[in-house]
This record gives sequence, structure tokens and C-alpha cells, in this order.
Amino acid sequence: MTAWINNRFVPYEEALLPVSDLSIQRGYALFDFLRSVNSIPLFLPGHLDRFFGSADGLHLTVPYTRDQLGAVVQELIQRNGIDEAGIRLMLTGGSSPDTYHPTTPNLVITCLPVRTATNEDFEKGLRLITYEHQRELPHIKSINYLTGVWLQPLLRQQQADDVLYHSKGLVTELPRSNVFIVSKEGSLCTPAAGILHGITRKKVLELAGGLLPVEERAVALEEIYNSSEMFITSTTRRLLPVREVDGRLIGNGKPGSVTRELYRRFRELEEGLRAGGPDR
Ligand code: PDD
Repeated sequence: MTAWINNRFVPYEEALLPVSDLSIQRGYALFDFLRSVNSIPLFLPGHLDRFFGSADGLHLTVPYTRDQLGAVVQELIQRNGIDEAGIRLMLTGGSSPDTYHPTTPNLVITCLPVRTATNEDFEKGLRLITYEHQRELPHIKSINYLTGVWLQPLLRQQQADDVLYHSKGLVTELPRSNVFIVSKEGSLCTPAAGILHGITRKKVLELAGGLLPVEERAVALEEIYNSSEMFITSTTRRLLPVREVDGRLIGNGKPGSVTRELYRRFRELEEGLRAGGPDR
């Protein structure tokens, strides 16, 4: 596998950072993650926007232009010859002699095979538990997944697939995904504040146009339990239905009709790109 670090293509094993890097010393870094279909990067403009936005948010300067990074992503996909890859762009606080103050950022891009959710995963749906937590600087895709990773033993113990964060009675997101419900009134609702604005979330909101009313607003935890459908979105999972939250069944525990239709539209969008259509 080939990776890219600070303007050089190198074997993946040689894409190394010094131990003095602020990502290692203080967890100060950000990233973005996208995937390719048929060697075409999916939703690249949105991911680049968010990458530059996250860098700005952490007061770090990306030492390349969007076009330059887009070209590197394309070349990495070609060099690695993987049709369906996960591409990770990582920008760190740089090598810091005093282990606290950012210096010149290090930029690493990797491209590796990726597993995405299958139709079987879709049919099965997810079991979630809830946990009170608010991600720090939520609009930034930082490398801080401390709570999510830390909760793994609890997830195993509860035989849950993932965790839904909530704060002050309102749900936000999962450690690596956004969340949607279809309310009792028949609207598609997704939290708007305290979240990372997912690229998949944005596409799903666009795809829902004309299908049902869409509301980006605060969603109470109580409302989740009583929703008729619920699903999560992310780059690797696309849309995945939630069948149970805290032991309570959502709807009849099967993927609902809205979730199914949005999933169908999303797959269609992806297939269009795969066939060489424009990256909308
Ligand atoms: N996670 N919220 C958080 C905190 C995330 O880390 C992610 C992405 C999302 C969904 O965003 P998108 O639709 O752009 O993938 C929401 C990636 C996939 C990860 O950490 O692996």
C-alpha cells in the first residue's frame, strides 16, 4: 500500500510521525474520512470542505490547496489499485518541542481497503444503548474518540452494537455516525446542534426532499423511544436502521418504509457515481 506524508508518496509502513507530534502528546489533530467507489472518491468536495473547516476550527493551516489535496487523493487511489477504498486525511498539530504548542502541521493521507455495511446489516438493524455525553468541539472532526473507544467494554457487556449520545435530555449523535428519526407526526427529524455535520447526513437530507417533511432540530431522548423509525448514517455504514434503543423496540423492529426508500435512493446515487456520473 502507498500512503502520502508531507508531500511524498511512501510505502504505508513508512508514513510515520515523530513521537513529539502533538497528536501523540496531546491528542491534537483532525482528520476526514471518505471512501471510493469504482476508484472514484465519493462526495470529495464535501469531505474537503469539512477537512479545511476542521483545520480552521483547530487554528491549523493546511499547507496545500483543495485542488492539490484532491489530486493526491485521486493519485493514491490509482497507485493502490483498490476500487473500494477508505481514504483518511490527517492533519496534526505538528512536532512540538515543548509538547504543548502547535508548530508546522504534519499531513498524512492513507488509502486502504474498507468494509462497508451490507444489505444483511441493513435488514438486521442495530441495537443501541444511550449514554450521557457531549463531544468536545463537536463540529470539528478531531481525533478525539476517547469516550466512544472507552465505552467498548460496556457495549460488549450489554450486547449492544453502538451507543447514542445525549446531553441535557437531547440526543446528538453516535461516536461515529449521525442519527435520524421519523417522528410520530411523520417528519424526518435529525439533531442540528452539538453534532459533526456528516456528509452522509447531508446527502440523506437532500434525498428526503419531496418524500416527507424534513426537520433539522432538537430531538428529545423521549421522542426517540416513541419514534416510528430510526436510522443512523455514516460514510462506511450508509444508512442503517435502529431496531432497539435501551431495550425498547423502535416501530416493529424492522426497517421502516421511509428508511428503506432513503436507503434505496442513496444506493442509487452511489451507483450513478460508480457508473461515472457527476459527484453531486
Ligand atoms: N465517522 N459524527 C461523528 C462524530 C463522526 O466521526 C462521523 C464519521 C459522523 C458521520 O459523518 P460522515 O457521514 O461524513 O461519515 C458523524 C467516520 C466514518 C469514522 O470515524 O470512522
